[in-house]
Amino acid sequence: MNGVRSVILGTGSALPARRVSNAELAQQIDTSDEWIVERTGIRFRHIAGPDETTSTLAADAARAAIAAAGIEARDIDLIVLATATPDQTFPASATKVQALLGIEDCVAFDVAAVCSGFLYALQVADSMIRAGAYARALVIGAETFSRILDWEDRGTCVLFGDGAGAIVLAAEEDSERGILATKLHADGRHNDLLYVDGGPSTTGTVGKVRMKGREVFRHAVVNLAAVMGESLGAAGLTAADVDWVVPHQANARILDATAKKLGLAPEKVVVTVDQHANTSAASVPLALDTAVRDGRVRRGDLLVLEAMGGGFTWGAAVVRY
Ligand code: UT7
Repeated sequence: MNGVRSVILGTGSALPARRVSNAELAQQIDTSDEWIVERTGIRFRHIAGPDETTSTLAADAARAAIAAAGIEARDIDLIVLATATPDQTFPASATKVQALLGIEDCVAFDVAAVCSGFLYALQVADSMIRAGAYARALVIGAETFSRILDWEDRGTCVLFGDGAGAIVLAAEEDSERGILATKLHADGRHNDLLYVDGGPSTTGTVGKVRMKGREVFRHAVVNLAAVMGESLGAAGLTAADVDWVVPHQANARILDATAKKLGLAPEKVVVTVDQHANTSAASVPLALDTAVRDGRVRRGDLLVLEAMGGGFTWGAAVVRY
């Protein structure tokens, strides 16, 4: 008897129409395709146009997830949207997604944990489902980081992209599938290593992304390997049981180093950073949907999702898909 579990019924994703190559960026700033590929693995990113916002991308990803789940939008009773780039300071972009989907009544709110936002949103939704409060949840990660990049800072602007990913979670009794364990962490002593230099309560402006990349990199490998081990332990499993790691797509070198630390073969890591760059809270569900749709991730596979970002915040989830 497993009790109630939150099972992934369907996945979806959405990307802005405009795709930008490293070579295109190199025409505007002092960088090169060679530097970006070698240091990060990134080749392309999608950049939102004027009519594409966090909530429109989120709603497109949600529609695809709802269709894949084989349900109707009105069946959703909870929307948790992870984002650090909401359309407006308030209302929560989750309520805009609700309106775009035509859902008359449900619970809808945003979660702010930057790149780990999807893992935070997942644990929140899973807890609310297992508590019996909701039956079908949309968990979304969506970002338009291009709007908060300093396009003159080559150390950050080449790294990020825009996009959205979504899953439909449903309560199921005694399922073999579903979310088996989630583990989250935060350490606010590292606020100054990755942050935005503005906000409603300080400057009254939106601000731009600032990052001490090398230090973030160092913490990322240590923290991600630790939290993946911790979440597998909580599920009574080991790295040997894992079919796919679906990681936050910040840097191909972080993915390699983390897998190595856990003794996982690189072939078991879903890599989309080359195509999407770092899409913050969107990156894990975007990578998951990509791997589901191209046939890599199959029903019954054991997945470990993981992410780390500003705060620092970090986390991992063990999921039987
Ligand atoms: O999603 C949240 C988590 N974020 C991350 O996980 C990001 C973690 N950090 C990283 O991925 C890497 O640290 C970066 C990709 C950001 C940077 O790679 P790095 O190997 O740590 O390079 P660096 O920052 O130490 O810079 C090396 C050199 C510098 O030149 P000097 O001082 O050695 O002459 C930079 O000025 O590379 C230069 N540089 C660039 N050159 C060409 C920095 N950005 C660029 C660029 N193009 N875009």
